[in-house]
Amino acid sequence: MDRKKITVIGAGNVGATTAQRLAEKDLCDVVLVDIVEGMPQGKALDLMQAGPVVGYDTRVTGTNGYEDTAGSDIIVITSGLPRKPGMSRDDLLKVNAGIVKDVALKAVAKSPDAMVIVVSNPLDAMTYVAHKHSGLPANRVMGMAGILDSARFRAFIAMELEVSVNDITAFVLGGHGDSMVPSTRYTTVAGIPVEDLIPSAKLDAIVERTRKGGGEIVALLKTGSAYYAPSAAAVQMCESILLDRKMILPCAVLSQGKYDGCDGLFVGLPAKLGGNGVEEVVKFRLSPQESDALRKSAEVVRELCEAVDRLGF
Ligand code: NAI
Ligand code: 2OP
Repeated sequence: MDRKKITVIGAGNVGATTAQRLAEKDLCDVVLVDIVEGMPQGKALDLMQAGPVVGYDTRVTGTNGYEDTAGSDIIVITSGLPRKPGMSRDDLLKVNAGIVKDVALKAVAKSPDAMVIVVSNPLDAMTYVAHKHSGLPANRVMGMAGILDSARFRAFIAMELEVSVNDITAFVLGGHGDSMVPSTRYTTVAGIPVEDLIPSAKLDAIVERTRKGGGEIVALLKTGSAYYAPSAAAVQMCESILLDRKMILPCAVLSQGKYDGCDGLFVGLPAKLGGNGVEEVVKFRLSPQESDALRKSAEVVRELCEAVDRLGF
């Protein structure tokens, strides 16, 4: 029986941690690609040597090319610059658009049946770039951000209420930036609306902290951005696809006719992920305020995609 294969492009903080999490799940073989000579090979060997201790049989291969990636089921793109202090996600646009275009073309040429999960920032615009240049149908291209932003929201709520994170369901929609839309109305704690449990001023502060969640970590780390939670989120998407779990997860997916102001954009919306990739963009009713906030967030994404086009990517 053929083993499933996931290629992770970019063997930096997010990519290497994604490879580690995938290896530890023993779900598939992993190919780690980077342009730095020796580095993906070294990290792959290190991960292979962790196998006997942790107990996984995952084959991890490190490479600077694409031969070994052929026939991948999923391609996770993490290559690109991370944010440094004082740098917005949008500053990354130009350099990362070139990288994402290049790696998407090379990887999809070797794995034309793969699903592509983009992680590189600015996320929504980079997902657009990957879709544009990969030639893949929209159900096979998606971006990771909403799970991360929702996880931050869930973690902050759990910290505030001193309850299990497992009891908290939350959705953060829209673009992966300061305009993201954490929906308090649909956030529950063991089924109880969060608005009944946390006073509104405190909840507003948690929403604001969620919006700035990536920046908070950049300011603390000083030399890069978050990677433990981002890699966990990317792996959850891989798992839902590889195991056909059909989880409903907030992801950057192509919006077509279900959410006002979002059409034609890859933007964070609730999506069902299964063996066929994005199997459905799930529609739910938004309040006028939420709808307005989502439209504004989509506008920010649209401007970034227009900038991508203007720059010729
Ligand atoms: P990093 O700097 O640790 O790793 C990036 C890696 O990409 C480096 O090893 C670099 O050599 C490699 N790379 C650059 N050009 C390449 C190419 N053409 N082909 C193959 N590899 C190439 O950065 P980190 O922390 O892993 O972040 C990666 C990206 O993910 C950044 O753009 C960051 O902003 C983004 N990110 C997105 C998140 C999200 O929620 N969507 C969350 C966290 C990070
Ligand atoms: C984050 O939200 C930098 O986008 C990255 O942590």
